[in-house]
Amino acid sequence: SSPLRLGIAGLGTVGAGVVKIVRQKAALLSARSGRMVEITAVSARNRDKDRGVPLDSYAWEDDPVALAKRDDVDVFIELMGGSDGPAKAATEAALKAGKDVVTANKALLAHHGQALAELAEANGCVLRFEAAVAGGIPIIKSLTEGLAGNEIKRVMGVMNGTCNYILTRMEATGQGYEALFAEADKLGYLEADPNLDVGGIDAGHKLSLLSAIAFGTQVDFDGVELEGIQRVALEDIRQAADMGYRIKLLGVARMTGRGLEQSMAPCLVPANSPLGQLEGGTNMVVVEGDQVGQVVLRGAGAGEGPTASAVMGDVMDIARGLRMTTFGQPATTLVKSTSARAAAP
Ligand code: NDP
Ligand code: HSE
Repeated sequence: SSPLRLGIAGLGTVGAGVVKIVRQKAALLSARSGRMVEITAVSARNRDKDRGVPLDSYAWEDDPVALAKRDDVDVFIELMGGSDGPAKAATEAALKAGKDVVTANKALLAHHGQALAELAEANGCVLRFEAAVAGGIPIIKSLTEGLAGNEIKRVMGVMNGTCNYILTRMEATGQGYEALFAEADKLGYLEADPNLDVGGIDAGHKLSLLSAIAFGTQVDFDGVELEGIQRVALEDIRQAADMGYRIKLLGVARMTGRGLEQSMAPCLVPANSPLGQLEGGTNMVVVEGDQVGQVVLRGAGAGEGPTASAVMGDVMDIARGLRMTTFGQPATTLVKSTSARAAAP
């Protein structure tokens, strides 16, 4: 069969990671999918930047929209970031041109995922975003495939590694939030706009995507009750520990008689529970299904290798011919989404 041709827009942490996997594991990818997977074109802002991987054999486009529309691109991979601007314009252009799209961009999908999924469906394209939620943890595939026979009762998780790092370090060092925020900044953990992390917004974006998939609703980021970690005091952490609890920035989503409840806020979790044992920059997602009971997935929620791993999982599904779109079911199946703060587990 003909090779699957990738166009990659964004060659930062994740984009460079994807290029490395395609270059270094070509034989493995081909053996597993039955199809050659190759990169034909790439785009970033600065053509001259050294990205630690050779790019000479790929066509270069300054404009990601032009890349998205190229005839020699079958799958457009959006790894630029941002909820609007070039990421949105190029993703729309790709879908309108009949290209499948893979993205790691939770901000884009939390705000425009519903419309983009409908655009994908209208054009017979696939829109995949495993990397957008909890990085390397294959939670979307788990929900849509392995757990598809379950009615999902509740989805919970720690989905922002930076917040988990700060809270864990507050416990371990006895230093306050401000000092640990500065440490996370120094280590390069924070997003360009740190409020996305510490304000719970990034984790809220991820929760809104998981909810839509788990409960078959529209993506409703505005319906997420949001509270960040900025006001968590050392005294709160100490008192929680005295009672056998830890404080985590926890997302909880469940369907109730009143509609979908989604909350992302600092919560007490029992110290001896799986969530209570989560350390550092790691992520964890807990799914409760009516048949399977509780399933716990834990792993790296960020970083070059883990995030590129998730992007490649989507690419491999497309190479194998899977045409499933992860949300954006026909409008008739959508449920009106309402919101109320979910109780901590
Ligand atoms: P980076 O900031 O490292 O890279 C962004 C890339 O996009 C850069 O190569 C940049 O070009 C390019 N870019 C930005 N604007 C434009 C533009 N207008 N035209 C062309 N190229 C552009 O981001 P990451 O790799 O960290 O993240 C990419 C996506 O993955 C984001 O949506 C992020 O939220 C998501 N993600 C990231 C994770 C991580 O661990 N890093 C984890 C999970 C998801 P240049 O290099 O020339 O400046
Ligand atoms: N800023 C995010 C985090 C990156 O800390 O988890 C991964 O989405």
